[in-house]
Amino acid sequence: MSAFTQWFNERTPGLGAVYKKHMTEYYAPKNFNVMYYFGSLALLVLVNQIVTGIFLTMFYTPSAAGAFDSVQYIMRDVDWGWLVRYMHTTGASMFFIVIYLHMFRGLMYGSYKKPRELVWLLGMLIFLALMAEAFMGYVLPWGNMSFWGAKVIITLFSAVPWIGDTLVSWIMGTVGAAGLYVPGDATLNRFFALHVVALPLVLLLLVVLHLGALHEVGSNNPDGVEIKQHKGPNGHPLDGIPFHPYYTLKDLVGVGVFLIICAIIIFFAPTVGGFFIEHDNAIPANDLVTPATIKPVWYFSPFYAILRMIPSKGLGVLALIASILVLFLVPWLDRGKVKSIRYRGLGYKVALAIFAAVFFLLGCIGADLTPGWITAVFGPNADITSIENLFGRILVILYFAFFAFLWVYTFFGLERTKPVPERVTTHA
Ligand code: HEM
Repeated sequence: MSAFTQWFNERTPGLGAVYKKHMTEYYAPKNFNVMYYFGSLALLVLVNQIVTGIFLTMFYTPSAAGAFDSVQYIMRDVDWGWLVRYMHTTGASMFFIVIYLHMFRGLMYGSYKKPRELVWLLGMLIFLALMAEAFMGYVLPWGNMSFWGAKVIITLFSAVPWIGDTLVSWIMGTVGAAGLYVPGDATLNRFFALHVVALPLVLLLLVVLHLGALHEVGSNNPDGVEIKQHKGPNGHPLDGIPFHPYYTLKDLVGVGVFLIICAIIIFFAPTVGGFFIEHDNAIPANDLVTPATIKPVWYFSPFYAILRMIPSKGLGVLALIASILVLFLVPWLDRGKVKSIRYRGLGYKVALAIFAAVFFLLGCIGADLTPGWITAVFGPNADITSIENLFGRILVILYFAFFAFLWVYTFFGLERTKPVPERVTTHA
């Protein structure tokens, strides 16, 4: 131990033990594959969002009159402002790519199963907080899609029985020229406070709890075997390796590749064709001009499609809420004994593949890509709305069917699994 480390340790009793518990003496399975990069990448993006967010806040004005101009000022006049903003907007989309893959990994390897149910639940709370954080952040530049997006999403609260309309007025908080409540200064100020202070704190706290809960029970792995069941004479799992230095170094490879991809986007295609930054948001908010199609950023589009495909507003909102809440229940819906997809029945493999495809296609509908495809396939006279509704409603049913199938398949013992090995299958 260097003299400095010793000096430091003597003055920070307990900190050394925390470092050991979570880094040098946290034994992680030695068979992690690429799907295990996304946890550390999510952490990296979280830090990026906070750091770039702090710098954006230094120049941003949270008022309906000044917000749009202040963002233009950041882009054109502030030194390196364009870079900081593009790092933040790219970070937001990359956050969701990373999180969706991170969650998908959980579904592939049964990481939500006993004893990791709490890790999954905390993850889902993170996901909810992240959605709120992203939505409010999107409103801040006060472009036309910010304004109309805010209006559409806040108006969804009118579906709440009895207090719905009051709730909408309360959230918007600004009276417009026509004497009606609209998104305005008050909305922008409260969204700013929540986006910049409240939700980042909630996210950080949840991430600490998420990792704390994980390190209590230990990581799962692509074979889905519990490495703690085979310990060596020193008490450490035979198939485990210290997180630091082995996985800190390995994760750096993922970080390198990830940063190259981010750099390409930031420097060459920061709007990603209107997916990461929508074209309508280059136009200042205007409550008299509705964008041709009001649609959320790509990462909300699967859920938005579920809302849109259901004809009644009340039921649509219920389906939207259910589509997210049902994910919380996965640890209890899946009664299968085998964790990893490697040893699960064919039914689960097929169902998960269909679920991923359904989620992607719902996203295409929500992002308004389908009218073009329908015209290309069925000709210019095709009844786009009917075809889209039919297709979309089948997808909504398939989305929920995945969860129903998971329960029936595992509860009634229909799954034919393969034998799970005693130890992880990676042998160096
Ligand atoms: C800010 C967001 C998040 C961060 C920073 C984060 C971070 C991490 C990290 C560092 C790990 C350990 C490394 C790894 O297994 O990849 C992990 C594991 C895990 N996370 Fe997350 N996570 C986040 C969101 C989520 C979400 C939304 C879910 C799902 C609902 C989730 C579910 C899990 C599960 C089940 C594990 C255990 C995986 C295993 O051991 O196989 N996480 N998370």
